[in-house]
Amino acid sequence: MGMPQVSFLECSRCHLHHDPTTPQTVCTACAGSLYVRYDLSSAEGTNVRDRIGTTAHDKRWSGMWRYRDVLPSVKPVTLGEGWTPMLPSSRHENVWLKEEGANPTGTFKARGLALAVTMARQYGLKKLAAPTAGNAGGALAAYAAAAGIEAHIFMPKDTPMANQVECRAYGAHLNLVDGLISDCGRIVGERKSAEGWFDISTLKEPYRVEGKKTMGYELVEQLGWEYPDAVFYPTGGGVGMIGMWKAFEEMEQLGWVSGKRPKMIAVQAAGCAPVVRAFEQGAEASQMWQDAHTAASGLRVPKPYGDYIILDIVRQSGGTAVALTDDAIFSSLKDWASCEGLLLSPEGAAATAAYDHLITTGFLKKSDRVVLFNTGTGNKYTDVIGTRV
Ligand SMILES: Cc1ncc(COP(=O)(O)O)c(C=O)c1O
Ligand SMILES: [Zn+2]
Repeated sequence: MGMPQVSFLECSRCHLHHDPTTPQTVCTACAGSLYVRYDLSSAEGTNVRDRIGTTAHDKRWSGMWRYRDVLPSVKPVTLGEGWTPMLPSSRHENVWLKEEGANPTGTFKARGLALAVTMARQYGLKKLAAPTAGNAGGALAAYAAAAGIEAHIFMPKDTPMANQVECRAYGAHLNLVDGLISDCGRIVGERKSAEGWFDISTLKEPYRVEGKKTMGYELVEQLGWEYPDAVFYPTGGGVGMIGMWKAFEEMEQLGWVSGKRPKMIAVQAAGCAPVVRAFEQGAEASQMWQDAHTAASGLRVPKPYGDYIILDIVRQSGGTAVALTDDAIFSSLKDWASCEGLLLSPEGAAATAAYDHLITTGFLKKSDRVVLFNTGTGNKYTDVIGTRV
């Protein structure tokens, strides 16, 4: 037992193997995203699983590092990410809210960036760059500061104030762009080789997904090593959903969980819903969404790089993809704040609004056990929420 060595990196599309001993980006043959693969045989069985809770008080392995048996064998760059509360709703008997606002930098982005920056340090990378809808930039800035690595962050200029301020405070190089995350991504792509930057964009390196897979382990452990019936995930780039699905696959191989996997619900905003449109059209990939706009800034991703993986997961799981208007999002945000005492991010409120919607349509029943992801704290959005409540 202990942390496994990475055996190889596997392309999610053509399954080509890549060498994990040097930094990799996307598949060299087809540009697909890469998955981290290990020999996990030493973690098989419920003995290893049940040991997790008894050793997690060890401070070196707190938070998401409680799952070190299924994470790469490296010394973590950690700020205490993961093992966030799973809060039962006070009004809906079978609804749990996974409170990712409790993470360092206030969002679930901490998990992916903790592992990606850990690996960057391990590989000896000195300069990282990323386009971001906002929160990933804040998380990258924090972990890069903790690791002593340079961070170059590109975000839309109308990103919430908290994201801009945190990047500056952590000492990152912040570039505000008159455009969307897709424009930011293009700039990073154009400048990276001349600048010597390693591109740590969503799904263009393997370890952000790997960090976010801990959400899948956690939600199953927190439900007593059982699957819920459905998981609602506010989907921008889709990293969390892809990571959780990988976790489910691994946990089944390890014999840590059995039964029917949850229906995965991709939640988007009506002003930027490329995954919903592709799902409804039966398409395998999405089309670039024109004039993307929503106050749920994390969902403003006009063409997710891993759209083919997200769509495949939603379909395989028997889930669905839904889009909510900003009005519905903020009305649910107000509802959960005033009735449950939880100030959700607009992205999280998209998930709570989507739950109400799917109960109304009959897609889900009130007896279904569901987990709603509040991917970030509303406190990072006071400038946005302040104009709506
Ligand atoms: C608060 C919040 N929720 C959800 C998302 C979407 O995350 P993902 O790219 O994993 O789909 C983001 C992305 O920026 C975010 O900041
Ligand atoms: Zn490939």
